[in-house]
Amino acid sequence: MLVYSAFAVVASLGGLVPAVLASPVLNLDAAQRPLSSADLGSGPPYTLREQNDQVCDAGSRQWTGWINVSEEKRLFYWFFESRSAPLDDPVVVWLNGGPGGPPMMGLFSEIGPCLTVKGGNGTIRNEHSWSNFVNVLFIDQPAGVGFFSMNGGTEGGPDNLAEASEDFDRFLSIFFTDVFPQYSHLPFHLAGESFGGVYVPFFVKHIAQRQHPGVPGVFQTPIASIVLVNAVVGMTSSSYVSVYDHMCKFDGHGRNKLKLGFNATTCRAVEEAVPRCAALGRQCVATYNLDVCRAADAFCDEHIGRHLDVRVGGRVPYDDRVICENGTLPPVRRGLAALGLEEGWNFTSVNMDLNMRWEARGDSFTPSTREMRYILDETDTKVLVINGNNDISVTTEGNKRVYDDLPGRTKPRSVWKSTSTGRGPTSPGSPIRGGEFKAADKLAFATFDDAGHEAVGHQKEAGTFLVKCWLSTARDGPCAFLDRRTETIRPSPAQDVEL
Ligand SMILES: *[C@@H]1O[C@H](CO)[C@@H](O)[C@H](O)[C@H]1NC(C)=O
Ligand SMILES: *[C@@H]1O[C@H](CO)[C@@H](O)[C@H](O)[C@H]1NC(C)=O
Ligand SMILES: *[C@@H]1O[C@H](CO)[C@@H](O)[C@H](O)[C@H]1NC(C)=O
Ligand SMILES: *[C@@H]1O[C@H](CO)[C@@H](O)[C@H](O)[C@H]1NC(C)=O
Ligand SMILES: *[C@@H]1O[C@H](CO)[C@@H](O)[C@H](O)[C@H]1NC(C)=O
Repeated sequence: MLVYSAFAVVASLGGLVPAVLASPVLNLDAAQRPLSSADLGSGPPYTLREQNDQVCDAGSRQWTGWINVSEEKRLFYWFFESRSAPLDDPVVVWLNGGPGGPPMMGLFSEIGPCLTVKGGNGTIRNEHSWSNFVNVLFIDQPAGVGFFSMNGGTEGGPDNLAEASEDFDRFLSIFFTDVFPQYSHLPFHLAGESFGGVYVPFFVKHIAQRQHPGVPGVFQTPIASIVLVNAVVGMTSSSYVSVYDHMCKFDGHGRNKLKLGFNATTCRAVEEAVPRCAALGRQCVATYNLDVCRAADAFCDEHIGRHLDVRVGGRVPYDDRVICENGTLPPVRRGLAALGLEEGWNFTSVNMDLNMRWEARGDSFTPSTREMRYILDETDTKVLVINGNNDISVTTEGNKRVYDDLPGRTKPRSVWKSTSTGRGPTSPGSPIRGGEFKAADKLAFATFDDAGHEAVGHQKEAGTFLVKCWLSTARDGPCAFLDRRTETIRPSPAQDVEL
């Protein structure tokens, strides 16, 4: 029971914990700290503080602050303007998963303008940041997650998607009305990783249903697209059921093709559990009954998830290429959140209190399939799905199935084509197959080779290339693959796209 949290929390963190959180360096000093609530008085319900390059050498202007979304709840944000044309480039909001995982992990390990250095000695400029071509806004949400939230504490905050959606809507409304109105007319995109696959569709549906001109307190900018990175849409399909597909590929000699794949005995046990797990998962998706979803999760974790053997010396569920080393084990079980990470700098890794409350209430178990259908059927919002092929927790195999099961949305699998979206670590300088891409109507799906759960962090150049094309209106040159759909993406972005 409650093993979903193991899976979900793990899925939100990956190897990011040591890189980001063991670092004492991100301690914003007094001058850099956002204003305290005492400074606020009765002014507007937000703070805004421009940051210098001391913490993050961003290569563009950057601001931090809070926005009060209610009497008790405020959300911390970090906003980086684009390195190119801030007043013309789109805005992207980035969210991590959990529930309870702060987006600063995405900032400092994946797409942000600066990256934490191993060993915790500061940050370095990220030449492949999405801020090369967009304004990027990182929001610590739900309230209680990440930096300085909930009156400095980590308790309280929403335990459900309805409330988190309202808070998020309110945040965006204040941000784009009061804090940075000059960005409100720009194309707006929402990106999420891991449990972001639940947040983002729920938030978009909530916002889209309320967007009517003149309604106060509502974010009015149309959401041009969403970008989902190794994101869970339905836990059983995105994850558990496809653990078998991912971990049980054998060659003619009975050897698992995957270095850290399951052995035949384990595969048989997992295979036996798949039909029941899948059936329970379908019930969950059909009913959206959170008790049903919780039961599905419990069964699937007991019969499938546990075989992953997540421990020091065992597997890392976000990456089938690596053994879990001491120090890289994320807070898998209850209570292990306290890794001493908060010391000295009020930042929680995954807010386990919040995570547990989401579990208790059941929203951790919800699928977001209905919301995805709503987005595809009822809105103008486009959807880009990116999946790292080495992730075990949210597999490419599973998410292909999820999106293929959205009726009328995707072409037959045969249109998957190999692409060259990046360079592999093994062959520096030479273009390699970067993954696959297919698109239909408003939905596109890209896979990244040599990438685990944090696909756009593991393949920064490929991620930047793909997302830049996706957000751009240019449909020619190196970005033409977006329209040609079935053709191979080439040539190497490094040579042909100025990032
Ligand atoms: C914003 O919230 C903080 C506590 O989170 C509170 O102290 C402050 O008074 C609030 N400011 C406004 C203007 O509502
Ligand atoms: C950390 O960075 C500072 C400033 O760049 C440098 O002086 C110091 O030697 C570094 N420390 C380590 C352990 O690398
Ligand atoms: C940060 O945490 C320390 C204790 O670890 C506490 O004294 C301080 O008030 C907190 N600051 C904020 C801004 O929450
Ligand atoms: C298969 O793997 C499981 C889990 O790692 C292990 O307990 C079992 O001994 C293995 N069986 C064989 C036949 O290798
Ligand atoms: C991991 O390292 C810590 C100290 O860094 C040590 O106390 C602990 O025993 C180690 N655990 C394992 C399983 O090796």
